[in-house]
Amino acid sequence: KTESSLSITVVGASGDLAKKKIFPALFALFYEDCLPENFTVFGYARTKMTDEELRNMISQTLTCRIDKRENCDDKMDRFLKRCFYHSGQYDSGEHFAELDCKLKEKEEGRLSKRLFYLSIPPNIFVDVVRCASTRASSKNGWTRVIVEKPFGRDSESSGELTRCLKQYLAEDQIFRIDHYLGKELVENLSVLRFSNLVFEPLWSRDYIRNVQFIFSEDFGTEGRGGYFDNYGIIRDIMQNHLLQILALFAMETPVSLDAEDIRNEKVKVLRSMRPLQLENVVVGQYKGHSKSGKTYPAYTDDPTVPKNSLTPTFAAAALFIDNARWDGVPFLMKAGKALHTKRAEIRVQFRHVPGNLFKRNFGTDLDKATNELVLRVQPDEAIYLKINNKVPGLGMRLDRSDLNLLYRARYLREIPDAYERLLLDAIEGERRLFIRSDELDAAWALFTPLLKELEEKKIAPELYPYGSRGPVGSHYLAAKHNVRWGDLSGEDS
Ligand code: BG6
Repeated sequence: KTESSLSITVVGASGDLAKKKIFPALFALFYEDCLPENFTVFGYARTKMTDEELRNMISQTLTCRIDKRENCDDKMDRFLKRCFYHSGQYDSGEHFAELDCKLKEKEEGRLSKRLFYLSIPPNIFVDVVRCASTRASSKNGWTRVIVEKPFGRDSESSGELTRCLKQYLAEDQIFRIDHYLGKELVENLSVLRFSNLVFEPLWSRDYIRNVQFIFSEDFGTEGRGGYFDNYGIIRDIMQNHLLQILALFAMETPVSLDAEDIRNEKVKVLRSMRPLQLENVVVGQYKGHSKSGKTYPAYTDDPTVPKNSLTPTFAAAALFIDNARWDGVPFLMKAGKALHTKRAEIRVQFRHVPGNLFKRNFGTDLDKATNELVLRVQPDEAIYLKINNKVPGLGMRLDRSDLNLLYRARYLREIPDAYERLLLDAIEGERRLFIRSDELDAAWALFTPLLKELEEKKIAPELYPYGSRGPVGSHYLAAKHNVRWGDLSGEDS
C-alpha cells in the first residue's frame, strides 16, 4: 500500500472566514479522527508571521465539542503542531514554489494529496489558482481547490471566472462551496423526501399550495459593508443559499445518490424556472432606529458604504417552476439583514382539505387551518408539521398542534458545522454538495436580468427599521400570489 500525505493550504489564512470557520472545522475533523494520519495544515497569506504566531492565532478560535471535553487540550496541541505558515504574495509563482518545497518536505516522498482553500476576495482567485496549479500542485496524487462565493456578479462575470479557472484546473478539481448545502437540515431534505412514503406523494402542485424559503439575520452588515455593497442580499443569499435549497426541494428523484445524478436533477429544475421578474420582487434596506434608549445604525451609516447606496439588504421574491410537478405553485423567498430575528427555514403550505367536514369547528378561519410543514434549518434545528387536532374534552373543538421533531430533544449529539462536512467531502472527493459549473450558470441565468434591471432603473429599496420584520411590500407581494408568510403568522416563533 502506498502511504499518502494530505496537506490543506488555507490561502488567506488571516482572514475572518479562515479564523472563524475553516481552522475550527479542521480541528473538529481532527478531533473526530476524520483526518488521515499524515496531514499538515498550511496557512498562506501576505502578512509576515511565524508558525508559532499562526498557531497562537488559530488556538484562540478552537473549541471542543460540548459533549466531549476530555483530552481536548492534548488534541489541540497535537493539531497545532501540524499547522505551519508560509507568507507570500497571492500572484507570485516564486512564493508558491517555496510553499511547494515546504509541502514536499512534509510529504516525505509519500503520495501527495493537496487541497487549497481559497479564503480570499474573488479578484485574486485566478492569480492564486494560476500560481498554485503551476507551481505547487501535487505531482503524483491530486490537487483540489475549494472556492467560495461570490462567483462573479452576473452571468457574464461568472462565466468569465469559470473560463479563467478552467485554464488551470479541470472541473473535477474545482469545489465550489455553498455552505448551506453542508447544513444538517438541508442534507436531510433528500432523506425526508425520498425515504418516507408519507411526503413524496404530496410533493407537487396537487397538494402543495406554496413553498417559502426564509432567511433572516438580526444584525446588519457590521464590518462587511465594503464587500456587501457591491453584491447586495440577492447575490449574497438568494442566488446561492436559498436557490440551492429550492433546487433540492423541488428536483425530481435522482437516478442514484451519486453526485452527478443529483446535480443533473438540480440543473434540470433550475432550467425549468422562469427568470425573476421585477414585478415579483420587493427590495428593502434597513434604516437607523432607536428603541428603549438604544440606537441601531442604518445600512448607510456604515463608513464603507456610500451614503446614497441603493443596495438591498432585504429582498422578497416569487419564483415559478414551469414543469409538470410545480406548474403555478409560487415559491417565495425572503432574505434580510437587520431583522427582528435570526432564522433560516423552509415552509411548505398545503392546500385546503376539500369539503372539510370540520369547517364549523375551527375557532379561526379555515384559511389558517391548512397543514404546514416547517423545516427549521437554524437555529434550534427542527422539523414540524402543523396539523389540526381535536381539543380533548366532550365538545368538538379543533386546534392547531405540532408534530414536532426537535433535534436537541431527539439527538443528544452536537450538530457539526457545515464547513466540517464540506471539508471532509472535498478531502474524500465527494462532490454531491458542491456546485457544478452548469448549475452555477443556470442559477445566474435566473437572477441576472432582474439584477440588471434593478441597477439600470435605480430602483430605490423600501426602507425598514433595523430590528423590524422588514418592508410591508413583502406582504403585498405574498398577497398577490395568495400567500401569507408562515413565519409572521404568530403561531410559532
Ligand atoms: C454568507 C453570507 O454566505 O452566509 C453572509 O455572505 C451571511 O452575509 C452568512 O451572514 C450566513 O451564514 P450562516 O451559516 O451564519 O447562516
